[in-house]
Amino acid sequence: MMTREEILLVKRSWRIFQQINPLLVGDVFYSNLFAAHPRLRKMFPKDMAQQYQKLVDMISYMVQRLGEPALVVAEIRALAEKHVGYGVKTSQYDAVGKALLVTLQQGLGTDWNPALAEAWTKCYTMIADIMVEAGKAPIAK
Ligand code: HEM
Repeated sequence: MMTREEILLVKRSWRIFQQINPLLVGDVFYSNLFAAHPRLRKMFPKDMAQQYQKLVDMISYMVQRLGEPALVVAEIRALAEKHVGYGVKTSQYDAVGKALLVTLQQGLGTDWNPALAEAWTKCYTMIADIMVEAGKAPIAK
Protein backbone atom coordinates (compact mmCIF):
# COMPACT_ATOMS: atom_id res chain seq x y z
CA MET A 1 0.00 0.00 0.00
CA MET A 2 1.16 3.53 -0.74
CA THR A 3 1.29 5.89 2.22
CA ARG A 4 -0.52 9.21 2.14
CA GLU A 5 2.83 10.94 1.83
CA GLU A 6 3.79 8.78 -1.17
CA ILE A 7 0.48 9.51 -2.86
CA LEU A 8 1.11 13.23 -2.38
CA LEU A 9 4.63 12.92 -3.78
CA VAL A 10 3.37 11.18 -6.90
CA LYS A 11 0.55 13.68 -7.39
CA ARG A 12 2.79 16.70 -6.92
CA SER A 13 5.54 15.42 -9.20
CA TRP A 14 3.04 14.43 -11.89
CA ARG A 15 1.62 17.96 -11.78
CA ILE A 16 5.09 19.31 -12.58
CA PHE A 17 5.51 16.67 -15.26
CA GLN A 18 2.26 17.60 -16.95
CA GLN A 19 3.75 20.93 -17.98
CA ILE A 20 5.84 18.98 -20.47
CA ASN A 21 4.23 18.35 -23.86
CA PRO A 22 2.68 14.82 -23.79
CA LEU A 23 4.18 14.09 -27.21
CA LEU A 24 7.61 14.72 -25.78
CA VAL A 25 6.92 12.60 -22.68
CA GLY A 26 5.67 9.75 -24.87
CA ASP A 27 8.62 10.04 -27.19
CA VAL A 28 11.09 9.87 -24.30
CA PHE A 29 9.23 7.01 -22.60
CA TYR A 30 9.07 4.80 -25.68
CA SER A 31 12.61 5.68 -26.70
CA ASN A 32 13.76 4.49 -23.27
CA LEU A 33 11.66 1.35 -23.55
CA PHE A 34 12.75 0.44 -27.08
CA ALA A 35 16.41 1.29 -26.49
CA ALA A 36 16.47 -1.19 -23.58
CA HIS A 37 14.17 -3.75 -25.29
CA PRO A 38 14.24 -3.32 -29.08
CA ARG A 39 12.09 -6.40 -29.63
CA LEU A 40 9.08 -4.71 -28.05
CA ARG A 41 8.96 -2.13 -30.86
CA LYS A 42 7.10 -4.39 -33.25
CA MET A 43 4.20 -4.83 -30.78
CA PHE A 44 3.30 -1.16 -31.26
CA PRO A 45 1.92 0.69 -34.27
CA LYS A 46 4.26 2.41 -36.69
CA ASP A 47 2.80 5.80 -35.91
CA MET A 48 3.10 6.31 -32.16
CA ALA A 49 1.57 9.78 -31.75
CA GLN A 50 -1.76 8.46 -30.47
CA GLN A 51 0.00 6.04 -28.16
CA TYR A 52 1.94 8.92 -26.59
CA GLN A 53 -1.25 10.75 -25.73
CA LYS A 54 -2.93 7.58 -24.41
CA LEU A 55 0.00 6.90 -22.14
CA VAL A 56 -0.04 10.36 -20.60
CA ASP A 57 -3.86 10.39 -20.28
CA MET A 58 -3.79 7.01 -18.57
CA ILE A 59 -1.15 8.05 -16.06
CA SER A 60 -3.07 11.26 -15.34
CA TYR A 61 -6.27 9.29 -14.80
CA MET A 62 -4.62 6.83 -12.40
CA VAL A 63 -2.68 9.49 -10.51
CA GLN A 64 -5.82 11.57 -9.95
CA ARG A 65 -7.52 8.56 -8.36
CA LEU A 66 -4.55 7.20 -6.43
CA GLY A 67 -6.14 7.50 -3.01
CA GLU A 68 -9.19 5.53 -4.14
CA PRO A 69 -8.02 2.31 -5.79
CA ALA A 70 -11.55 0.86 -5.79
CA LEU A 71 -12.47 3.44 -8.43
CA VAL A 72 -9.89 2.25 -10.91
CA VAL A 73 -9.78 -1.50 -10.40
CA ALA A 74 -12.49 -2.11 -13.02
CA GLU A 75 -10.63 0.06 -15.56
CA ILE A 76 -7.32 -1.62 -14.83
CA ARG A 77 -8.94 -5.03 -15.31
CA ALA A 78 -10.40 -4.01 -18.66
CA LEU A 79 -6.99 -2.65 -19.69
CA ALA A 80 -5.41 -5.94 -18.60
CA GLU A 81 -7.71 -7.91 -20.89
CA LYS A 82 -6.75 -5.67 -23.81
CA HIS A 83 -3.10 -6.31 -23.03
CA VAL A 84 -3.60 -10.06 -23.12
CA GLY A 85 -5.06 -9.46 -26.58
CA TYR A 86 -1.96 -7.46 -27.61
CA GLY A 87 0.15 -10.45 -26.66
CA VAL A 88 1.77 -8.73 -23.66
CA LYS A 89 3.53 -11.11 -21.30
CA THR A 90 3.64 -10.61 -17.54
CA SER A 91 7.45 -10.68 -17.69
CA GLN A 92 7.33 -7.46 -19.78
CA TYR A 93 5.83 -5.34 -17.01
CA ASP A 94 9.20 -4.77 -15.34
CA ALA A 95 10.64 -3.29 -18.54
CA VAL A 96 7.75 -0.83 -18.83
CA GLY A 97 8.07 0.12 -15.16
CA LYS A 98 11.78 0.80 -15.56
CA ALA A 99 11.21 2.92 -18.68
CA LEU A 100 8.60 4.93 -16.77
CA LEU A 101 10.94 5.53 -13.83
CA VAL A 102 13.80 6.61 -16.08
CA THR A 103 11.49 8.95 -17.99
CA LEU A 104 10.25 10.56 -14.77
CA GLN A 105 13.78 10.95 -13.53
CA GLN A 106 14.89 12.57 -16.79
CA GLY A 107 11.86 14.88 -16.85
CA LEU A 108 12.07 15.99 -13.24
CA GLY A 109 15.82 16.50 -13.28
CA THR A 110 17.00 18.01 -10.01
CA ASP A 111 13.52 17.55 -8.46
CA TRP A 112 14.05 13.77 -8.61
CA ASN A 113 15.04 12.05 -5.35
CA PRO A 114 14.97 8.59 -3.70
CA ALA A 115 11.63 9.21 -1.98
CA LEU A 116 10.03 10.00 -5.35
CA ALA A 117 11.61 6.91 -6.88
CA GLU A 118 10.15 4.78 -4.09
CA ALA A 119 6.70 6.38 -4.35
CA TRP A 120 6.49 5.97 -8.15
CA THR A 121 7.80 2.41 -7.95
CA LYS A 122 5.02 1.54 -5.53
CA CYS A 123 2.47 3.31 -7.70
CA TYR A 124 3.49 1.44 -10.85
CA THR A 125 3.84 -1.89 -9.05
CA MET A 126 0.37 -1.57 -7.57
CA ILE A 127 -1.16 -1.02 -11.02
CA ALA A 128 1.01 -3.62 -12.74
CA ASP A 129 0.11 -6.22 -10.08
CA ILE A 130 -3.60 -5.68 -10.72
CA MET A 131 -2.97 -5.89 -14.49
CA VAL A 132 -1.01 -9.12 -14.18
CA GLU A 133 -3.55 -10.76 -11.88
CA ALA A 134 -6.48 -9.71 -14.03
CA GLY A 135 -4.67 -10.91 -17.14
CA LYS A 136 -4.37 -14.37 -15.63
CA ALA A 137 -8.03 -14.62 -14.72
CA PRO A 138 -10.10 -12.74 -17.30
CA ILE A 139 -13.50 -11.55 -16.18
CA ALA A 140 -16.19 -14.04 -17.24
CA LYS A 141 -18.38 -12.61 -19.97
C1 HEM B 1 0.71 -0.77 -15.75
C2 HEM B 1 1.17 -0.97 -16.97
C3 HEM B 1 0.54 -0.49 -18.25
C4 HEM B 1 -0.39 0.48 -18.49
C5 HEM B 1 -1.06 1.41 -17.47
C6 HEM B 1 -0.64 0.49 -19.93
C7 HEM B 1 -1.52 1.34 -20.57
C8 HEM B 1 -1.91 1.23 -21.90
C9 HEM B 1 -2.98 1.99 -22.53
C10 HEM B 1 -3.84 3.04 -21.84
C11 HEM B 1 -3.07 1.58 -23.82
C12 HEM B 1 -4.07 2.06 -24.86
C13 HEM B 1 -5.27 1.14 -24.85
C14 HEM B 1 -6.33 1.52 -25.86
O1 HEM B 1 -5.98 1.83 -27.01
O2 HEM B 1 -7.51 1.49 -25.50
C15 HEM B 1 -2.04 0.57 -24.02
C16 HEM B 1 -1.81 -0.08 -25.21
C17 HEM B 1 -0.78 -0.97 -25.41
N1 HEM B 1 0.14 -1.41 -24.47
FE1 HEM B 1 0.14 -0.92 -22.52
N2 HEM B 1 0.14 -0.46 -20.53
C18 HEM B 1 0.87 -1.08 -19.55
C19 HEM B 1 1.79 -2.09 -19.73
C20 HEM B 1 2.19 -2.59 -20.95
C21 HEM B 1 3.24 -3.57 -21.14
C22 HEM B 1 4.04 -4.24 -20.04
C23 HEM B 1 3.34 -3.80 -22.48
C24 HEM B 1 4.32 -4.73 -23.12
C25 HEM B 1 5.17 -4.39 -24.01
C26 HEM B 1 2.34 -2.96 -23.13
C27 HEM B 1 2.08 -2.92 -24.48
C28 HEM B 1 1.00 -2.28 -25.08
C29 HEM B 1 0.63 -2.44 -26.49
C30 HEM B 1 1.32 -3.34 -27.51
C31 HEM B 1 -0.49 -1.62 -26.70
C32 HEM B 1 -1.31 -1.47 -27.99
C33 HEM B 1 -0.68 -0.57 -28.99
C34 HEM B 1 -1.59 -0.42 -30.20
O3 HEM B 1 -1.63 -1.34 -31.01
O4 HEM B 1 -2.26 0.60 -30.29
N3 HEM B 1 1.67 -2.24 -22.17
N4 HEM B 1 -1.36 0.39 -22.84
